[in-house]
This record gives sequence, C-alpha cells and structure tokens, in this order.
Amino acid sequence: MISPISKSVFCKVKLCISTYWRPTSCRRSMNCLRSLERRLRPGFPKGKQAFTNLTLYSSSKPFLFEEKNLCDGLLSSWICLWHAFQSRALMNVPPEEGQLLSIILKVMNAKRTIEVGVFTGYSLLATALALPEDAKITAIDISRECYEVGLPFIKEAGVEHKIDFIESDAVPALDKLVHEVTEDELFDFAFVDAEKSSYWEYHERLLKLVRVGGLICYDNTLWMGTVANPPQQDVPDFVNSVREAVLKFNKKLAGDTRVELSQVCIGDGLTICRRIA
Ligand SMILES: C[S@@+](CC[C@H](N)C(=O)[O-])C[C@H]1O[C@@H](n2cnc3c(N)ncnc32)[C@H](O)[C@@H]1O
Repeated sequence: MISPISKSVFCKVKLCISTYWRPTSCRRSMNCLRSLERRLRPGFPKGKQAFTNLTLYSSSKPFLFEEKNLCDGLLSSWICLWHAFQSRALMNVPPEEGQLLSIILKVMNAKRTIEVGVFTGYSLLATALALPEDAKITAIDISRECYEVGLPFIKEAGVEHKIDFIESDAVPALDKLVHEVTEDELFDFAFVDAEKSSYWEYHERLLKLVRVGGLICYDNTLWMGTVANPPQQDVPDFVNSVREAVLKFNKKLAGDTRVELSQVCIGDGLTICRRIA
C-alpha cells in the first residue's frame, strides 16, 4: 500500500511515462516500467540512491525531493520513470493541479465522478486517492494500453476498486451513460482532458450526467497561453488548430447560462464549471 507520506508527495510527482497514444511507444514504456520495477523492488537501494536530491520538473516549476520522503518503491519507481522520460511527460496534469482537484473533491464530498481522458492515470489516481472507499469513478479513454501503463501504481495504491475503466471514444461512451444513468446516480464531478475539439460535445452530455450543484472541470483552457495571442507562426500546426478549438469552446462556455464558471490559471488552464440548471 502507498504510505500516507507518499500520498502527499505523490501529488508532487508527475506520472512520467509519456507515450502519447502510439502503441509502440506505449509498449516501450511498459517494458521500461517493468524492468525498472524489477530492479527497484528488492529493497530499492539503487532507486533511493538514484533520486537523492533529484529535482523534478512540473510544467511550471522544479520540485526538490528529499530522501526522507522517498519512502517506498512505488514512489521510487515513479520518480525513476520521470527521470527516464521527463522530456516527453507532457500529457498529464501538473502536480499542483492534481492537488487542487484533490482538495475540491474532498471539500465537496464527491462520491461519483467521471474522467474523460485518462492517459496513464495521473489525474485519475489523484482523484481515486481523494475519494472515499465506497466512491466510484467512471474513467473513459480511447486507449486501454495507456491506462494499463499506470495501472500497477493504481493497484499498489489500493484504489483500483473505485475505478470503472471504459475503453472507448468519449462521445459514444457518454451517450451510452446518458441513457443508462438514473436521476439518483448522477455524478458529483467530472474532469475533462481528452480531445480539445470535442469539448463542447462532452459538455452537452456532461450537463445531463452531472447533478445540479456538481462540477465539470476542463483542462487546457489556456492552451499554453496561446488563447491570449494571435495565431503563432513557426509552431506545429496542431498548436494553432487546438488554439482555435479552445477559443471557440471558451467563448461558448462564457455564454452558457446553465453553468457558473471560474477559469483558474493553473497548469495549462483549468475551467471549473458549476452546474446551476
Ligand atoms: C492529456 S491526456 C490525459 C491526461 C490525464 N488526464 C492525466 O492528467 O494524467 C489525453 C487523453 O485523452 C485520450 N483521448 C484523446 N481523444 C479521445 C477520444 N476521442 N475519446 C477518448 N479519449 C480520448 C488520449 O488517449 C489521452 O490518453
């Protein structure tokens, strides 16, 4: 089991296996994970030594980890993986955002949540650790392979029983839930971090799935700050095309009277919507 100290430290560590959603690199990461685990498990001496005073970088600032905090193999494996993959670990939310989500979930006593866009499960694990034992998380991602990369850590943390993973394109999965979920099964909280150009489609469906008073949180709504600037030249095409999609979504959301919202300047921008109608 993950220890209490590790739980708090956990939120400062980004799950570091960045694979995007290419199966081959997924497999490479998984193999690496397994070999690292094999190396670190028996007592973890190598591991501990390796991350003494290791500086980890979130998207915005460095974190320094002291050896006394690195008290179990779970955390050790993660940090080691971060060390191995850091330049590609871009997809998961940064640690400070994981901590914010965790506090929100605890304050609102959330019991039923939904996550759209799981990747290797960093935000999912932060959520699962924040929720009570009898809570349920419905987690949707088009790639089970990515989810399974992070699954050993979820298991090790003893929270796998809270998660119902659905491998699917998010829109049809949400449509199915809209038909299945009854009034007394509505969700308290949703976290959305999948296809940016589909955010509005997710929004329409989540408004039927999240109870009045519940929260729907959208990640990447500042899209590296590009939404405040004209389109950039000399950047990959997807940067500008996602910028367009996020701008459109933000504008529609700002005019949506069914929610009140707050755009939080954390990570890549987090918009918190509270359903009011
Ligand atoms: C940014 S990552 C999620 C990171 C995760 N929330 C975290 O913080 O660790 C985006 C994920 O969305 C998934 N995704 C992309 N398009 C999707 C779609 N149409 N339906 C479901 N999942 C999708 C990808 O497979 C990827 O794992």
